[in-house]
Amino acid sequence: MNVKAMNTIKSRANANDRIYTPPEVADLMLKFCDYKEGQLVLECCSGNGDIYEKLKEPKEYCEIDEDRDFFDYCGFVDIIISSPPYSIIDCWLKHTYTLCDKFCYILGVYSLTPKRVEVMNKNDFYITKMLLTKIPNWFQCSYIIVCERLQEKPKKIIFETVNFGNKCLYCGCSVGGSKGYKHCKRKASETVCKY
Ligand SMILES: C[S@@+](CC[C@H](N)C(=O)[O-])C[C@H]1O[C@@H](n2cnc3c(N)ncnc32)[C@H](O)[C@@H]1O
Repeated sequence: MNVKAMNTIKSRANANDRIYTPPEVADLMLKFCDYKEGQLVLECCSGNGDIYEKLKEPKEYCEIDEDRDFFDYCGFVDIIISSPPYSIIDCWLKHTYTLCDKFCYILGVYSLTPKRVEVMNKNDFYITKMLLTKIPNWFQCSYIIVCERLQEKPKKIIFETVNFGNKCLYCGCSVGGSKGYKHCKRKASETVCKY
């Protein structure tokens, strides 16, 4: 089975692949990766468009649900910013390396494995900045990573953390806590708050 066919099946089947980035987190990503107006930017799997909407022209997007398959995209852009589907992250990263010199992805902490970093480095990409955070309602902690094509390993990596607390970033209600209080039970893959 080719990568595209595998991707189509997996992305439709795997709930982990449909995780939507809250606008506040999208703002953080744009700031963290030093995205500048005027750069040609690609949102490679735009989902509901919460990252894409914040980008300025010139900008492009892919989204399988709109028949704009990332694996068919073959332009070269200044930067790619997104939250890629986790279940196919290896082939996603491989394709990413062919399209840009810099990208910023938010990944679950378990997705950033030493093996993946090794492969990244073999492709001349290095993590230059990383930010550890926990997004309320998301299952696991996340890293926002900024990766750049470099001739050699950077001498320093910028590391930051951001604590979003335990309130839903959409409605402001607590996402956990003691019984009797209003809680938001919205999952990362859902588009409305639930109580
Ligand atoms: C984790 S969600 C992220 C959505 C959006 N980037 C965000 O941060 O809110 C991953 C998205 O990748 C899309 N997707 C999966 N495979 C794709 C492909 N081959 N090309 C383009 N989009 C794809 C899914 O439909 C889903 O919307």
